[in-house]
Amino acid sequence: MTDRAEMRDEMLLTFDTPLSPSCPYYLCHGALNRFPDHVKQHDFDRCFVISSKKLMDLLGTPFLDGLCRAGIPCDVVLIKETEQHKSWQSLRKLCERLVSHGATKNSILIAFGGGLIGNVVGLAAALLYRGIRFVSVPTTITAQTDSALSNKQAINGRHGKNQFGVFHAPLFIWADAAYALAEPKRQQRGGVVEGIKNVFISRTDTGHAETILDAWRADDHFGDLLRLIIESKLAILRQDPTERRSSVILEYGHTFGHAIEWLAAGRLFHGEAVSIGMCLAAELSHALGFMDEAFLLEHYRLLGKELGTPTRLPDDIATDDLCEAMRFDNKRTGKGLRFLLLEKCGEFVKGDGDHFIAVPEEVLRETLGRSHQS
Ligand SMILES: NC(=O)c1ccc[n+]([C@@H]2O[C@H](COP(=O)([O-])OP(=O)(O)OC[C@H]3O[C@@H](n4cnc5c(N)ncnc54)[C@H](O)[C@@H]3O)[C@@H](O)[C@H]2O)c1
Repeated sequence: MTDRAEMRDEMLLTFDTPLSPSCPYYLCHGALNRFPDHVKQHDFDRCFVISSKKLMDLLGTPFLDGLCRAGIPCDVVLIKETEQHKSWQSLRKLCERLVSHGATKNSILIAFGGGLIGNVVGLAAALLYRGIRFVSVPTTITAQTDSALSNKQAINGRHGKNQFGVFHAPLFIWADAAYALAEPKRQQRGGVVEGIKNVFISRTDTGHAETILDAWRADDHFGDLLRLIIESKLAILRQDPTERRSSVILEYGHTFGHAIEWLAAGRLFHGEAVSIGMCLAAELSHALGFMDEAFLLEHYRLLGKELGTPTRLPDDIATDDLCEAMRFDNKRTGKGLRFLLLEKCGEFVKGDGDHFIAVPEEVLRETLGRSHQS
């Protein structure tokens, strides 16, 4: 853990999530000693901490020591955490290893890691013996403020991201700001992108994005930052927890973003790909005459200049490849490939009976061509 991530032993916030069945979310800073007590409130035979070697080397010792001191019987199972390993093969291997290590219907899995580990472990928990319990310990800003709250567990398929999955809620979510502080700066920036996005899609002006950015810059304590981004997501999620109706707006920038993340094959973080995706969505809306130039430029200013995340398509992602990858977007319906486009802050272009709108292919291709870095 870095110097900035000194321990504070503070419980910052406890709230109930709109997940179903509802599960509590505990946000703390360095209050690791209290985690085992929350686990022990449940009846179980054994816990399985699932993480990566890298994360166990970096953050694992105090975490496992705490479980051990509390007398919690527990095994550690290590998995690989690249997008290529967010696959059927890795999922099957994990499930089989859990069975051979003695996991039963009464065991609890503990997902210790970023969004990727959380997604894979959540899905394994949903499948094992037709569903066992798991606890989410998200260690990145993205996971603490986004994926852990979404309840969506998934793996990638041959054609794209998050193609196969289920909704499966954890028993509880335990997020420690000290872990987010230990993330490399570039990765932290990617995590803040979703907070900016949530402002764009739900507020009438972008002022709240400045508040989020100020909290990120005051980086000796991430409690405020995490709370602000979590609240911005929950406000939307509460109305539609399974993201089938009004909450689909959370996917702003993600049709482009997921395809870019997929094609970048590990070179871009999730939030970085979404940052580019949001700018592309804004360009598309501007090209179609919906979004004015001021709000388009606000995308570049807040994401690119102020936050420092990428806003242009990398040159090595070809327009043809991106269009092909988007054909397999998991939001696609029988109406074909359609986009969530903002007209202004908090106001979406009226779609075809929902929030999504089809766009002419030539406008899409021109927009992608313009975005390539020169
Ligand atoms: N289900 C959802 O709603 C949802 C939402 C957002 C993202 N996701 C998924 O989550 C994944 C991205 O998650 P992510 O951005 O958390 O990255 P990640 O899980 O891919 O992890 C990225 C890297 O960060 C490292 N890391 C994790 N915690 C760290 C820490 N505290 N300090 C230092 N390094 C640390 C990991 O070891 C890994 O190398 C993608 O697969 C994405 O599809 C899902």
